[in-house]
Amino acid sequence: MMEEVTWKSPSNIALVKYWGKYDIQIPANPSISFTLSEAATTTTLKYKPGRGALKVFLEGVETPSFEPKIKTFLLRTLELFPFTSDFDFEVHTYNSFPHSSGIASSASGMSALALCLTSIKETLGLEVLDFFQVASEAARLGSGSGSRSIYGPLAAWGTHAEIDGSSEHYAVKFKDVDTVFTTFQDTILLIDKGEKTVSSTAGHALMDGHPYAESRFIQAHENQSVLLTAMLDGDLETFGEVVESEALTLHSMMMTSLPYFVLMKPQTLEVINAIWRFRKATGNPVYFTLDAGANVHVLYPKSHKEIILKFIDEELRTFCKDGSYLCDEVGFGPMKLNEHDLD
Ligand code: PMV
Repeated sequence: MMEEVTWKSPSNIALVKYWGKYDIQIPANPSISFTLSEAATTTTLKYKPGRGALKVFLEGVETPSFEPKIKTFLLRTLELFPFTSDFDFEVHTYNSFPHSSGIASSASGMSALALCLTSIKETLGLEVLDFFQVASEAARLGSGSGSRSIYGPLAAWGTHAEIDGSSEHYAVKFKDVDTVFTTFQDTILLIDKGEKTVSSTAGHALMDGHPYAESRFIQAHENQSVLLTAMLDGDLETFGEVVESEALTLHSMMMTSLPYFVLMKPQTLEVINAIWRFRKATGNPVYFTLDAGANVHVLYPKSHKEIILKFIDEELRTFCKDGSYLCDEVGFGPMKLNEHDLD
């Protein structure tokens, strides 16, 4: 008989981007993100005394190809979870978004797994001083940005002069923002559902020796300062300017590394231009950000939901693969589920 624990953990979208790292998973610059609500991974971790055997089930199907990644994660987190070598595990994981959507599941997936292991640590009577801090540190070792999925509405990771308690090792909850930002909407336009051509691991590595790396890392600190003030003041215009500039800078770093690469598609640029045109013509506060991929995250206040969704349907949807997009919004972080909560 196996014991089990289940956590549902969300994805997040960075406003100031983490791009570049040192060993192991130490960010080269601070980042801050909106925690999402709908895009999430639910993971049940089953365990019984054993010798570290592992099985991974993705959407109910045994998926051995995921085992190496999780084994590496268990090795990396051995200091935090020294008990893992004395148990056998089954990981059962479900994503709320389609696998082929181009939405990365590493942040939500690794944070869900980290939360399950932190719960087991507690159940075994081992000392856990700060539950979410341990979970965030563990998540970071699996996926850097995953450290930020542990807290909502926003989370900051990496030392920043204006964020008390900020650390390279784990993310901290961030909530010193005008209420407009705690209900912000994120409509994710699915431009390209294919596999990413360059993994984020390879992308981070290309910041080593990148000609613009040092100035980029300084800029991230400065952008984060400007963004924090804008969010505290409810200053949408400055928020939008920093967030869009961060997205384009992230992709500029990719285009100016060696080897260089481009993750945006023609439709990504069509959408960006349409957002700029619409904003200029109507004055509506609608902005974009990008992840390490072609999809566009359209960001706007909840008060403008109706008009922006109409704009998306009428002018942006045509650029989406099969016309598909996902409506999400700022969320409040992970949730532990009991057996009766599960389908
Ligand atoms: O956490 P990783 O290694 O998948 O890197 C994520 C990098 C970006 O998504 C591009 C930016 C970020 O801060 O989330």
